[in-house]
Amino acid sequence: MNTIAPLGKGFTQWFIVPGMSTPSSLAARDARHHLHPFTNHGDMHATGTHVMMRGEGVYVWDARGHKMLDGLAGLWCVNVGYQCREIIEAVNAQMRQLPYYCSFFNTTTEPAIALAEKIASLTPPGLGHVMFTNSGSEANETALKLIRGYLKLRGQSAKTKIVSRNFAYHGVTLATTSMTGLRIGTLRITSVDEVGDFRHLSGTSRASPGPPSSNASQRRLSHFVRRMLSTRATTRPRRMA
Ligand SMILES: Cc1ncc(COP(=O)(O)O)c(C=O)c1O
Repeated sequence: MNTIAPLGKGFTQWFIVPGMSTPSSLAARDARHHLHPFTNHGDMHATGTHVMMRGEGVYVWDARGHKMLDGLAGLWCVNVGYQCREIIEAVNAQMRQLPYYCSFFNTTTEPAIALAEKIASLTPPGLGHVMFTNSGSEANETALKLIRGYLKLRGQSAKTKIVSRNFAYHGVTLATTSMTGLRIGTLRITSVDEVGDFRHLSGTSRASPGPPSSNASQRRLSHFVRRMLSTRATTRPRRMA
């Protein structure tokens, strides 16, 4: 049993608290269906997961009723503490009015406009635009995409090196796990040095947005896949005519 897994010096000491599992407990139900990122599930389930039930201010309570100071601030997502009344009321009001709308193409929403304005008023000159994402991982991945796009427009596509620090955590997506500098023993926790060999094939036709006529498109797809598998892997994405 290893509740203090060798995730790098110091890391799990402040992160992993042994849990408690009985067959009908929340921990046992968690073990049945829930996968945790960056986690050795065998080790974790040997003692049971640590189930959080409630938070208030800077404290959280677990399923056994233990009160703890949340030094991690919910992995830095709860920077103003739990049960902040202003946030509860603002989220509640917005859920009733318009719970969601996307920012794709030309659509936007009033809260997105107001928050972008507010952030731009606080950032230094030259940093006046905001792109919203759903997580730190997505934010870092988006930053990487913007950097790549910027360099490409400047004719510097060959500039692809990213320097990050040992023990740095940057997220759970393909690129951000590669940027992350955590180790298990001597191995990097996850590394995708070659993100992949992506190819694109034609989607549904613009003229007929319904489902593609199955036989013709299946033949086309299988021809494309055969051709792709028979060509040597390259990192340059190709577009199928
Ligand atoms: C520096 C840094 N980058 C990225 C992330 C990943 O954020 P998320 O868990 O919201 O995807 C974190 C999370 O703690 C972080 O601290």
